[in-house]
Amino acid sequence: MVTSVPTKPLLATVLGERQARPPIWIMRQAGRYLPEYRETRTLSKNFLDLCYSPDLATEVSLQPLRRFDLDAAILFSDILVIPDALGQNVRFETGEGPILDPVSVASIPSLGKEKDPLVHLAPVLETVRRLRAALPPEKTLIGFCGSPWTVATYMIGGRGSPDQAAARLFALRHPEAFTALLDVLVQTSIDYLVAQLEAGADLVQLFESWALNMDDVAFRSHVIEPNKRIVAGVRARVPNAPIIGFPRGAAGNIATYVAETSVNAVGIDYATPLDFVRNNLAPTIPVQGNLDPLRLVAGGQQLDERIDQIVTAFSDRPHIFNLGHGIVPETPIEHVARLVDRVKNG
Ligand code: CP3
Repeated sequence: MVTSVPTKPLLATVLGERQARPPIWIMRQAGRYLPEYRETRTLSKNFLDLCYSPDLATEVSLQPLRRFDLDAAILFSDILVIPDALGQNVRFETGEGPILDPVSVASIPSLGKEKDPLVHLAPVLETVRRLRAALPPEKTLIGFCGSPWTVATYMIGGRGSPDQAAARLFALRHPEAFTALLDVLVQTSIDYLVAQLEAGADLVQLFESWALNMDDVAFRSHVIEPNKRIVAGVRARVPNAPIIGFPRGAAGNIATYVAETSVNAVGIDYATPLDFVRNNLAPTIPVQGNLDPLRLVAGGQQLDERIDQIVTAFSDRPHIFNLGHGIVPETPIEHVARLVDRVKNG
């Protein structure tokens, strides 16, 4: 009997195959710009409970695919479930974003010692299994985690910050404790991503949302090395695991990041010039991105023109269309529909 393997255009693109039109997904595609997300969100008492409820998390992961012809679903969760699983107090307060009780030199050694982080994350892995079962074969299922430096900035600073000064200073003043923190994040992330792939994720993305504000020495030790160890550690257990890296703000470091981490594909933020990508990344390297999310809010002719520019700039290489950062809550749904249609049909 001949069984045909269904093609997943988005996964195939990450693996290096150029498509006639780019496949598309949208960072933070399940979220507050969708009324159905806002409604489901009221069913759980807080945001982390939503992440740990397989019923609700499966539902919100699928919501954007019911509205739009997207090529992938991304697991609904958050990068801060890892600090939560390691025993740090993490909470999300309305209008404030995440708040954590900051880690200290004294508290870092006990992270992850009280409870197996993967036991804590079991409901998220159950969501992955349910999504796998629910998705049509041509849709790609994306798992993810935050990269160690980005997660560490929240763990050390206790909240988001424009310059990550708390974490950068901590790394300089307490290099041993900082290294221990990155080590526990690398190890937990490897275990978590392997578990996601085993539960049915087709590929995983490493969100390094704060790959900026660092000199080249810090970029190497905080960004390149930990991401490289995660890629190698995951592939040691899941050979050839497909991985997208998204080093937001990496700018001139992007080619080195790709070469040294061995990610399959790289997310490009919207501040990176299209020509810079063309001139610095070999045409065999799949790229993802990079529309400014505010262009999607404003809509109209500028949106159409910029979509066409991005599609044209990357038409000679494997390209996954996406935003250059997450979609924002103010985005009109009609603009998202227009974006997906224009990317797919020209
Ligand atoms: O992409 C998806 O649809 C999947 C789910 C997803 C969320 N967060 C849901 C979420 C993913 C992949 C993330 C990643 C994430 N979380 C990142 C990396 C990507 C990026 O945008 O830079 C970061 C830095 C976080 C941490 C985080 N979570 C912040 C800073 C905030 C508050 C800001 C905000 O957008 O509200 C969150 C909360 C969060 N994560 C929400 C959602 C849908 C909104 C919370 C709510 O509904 O009340």
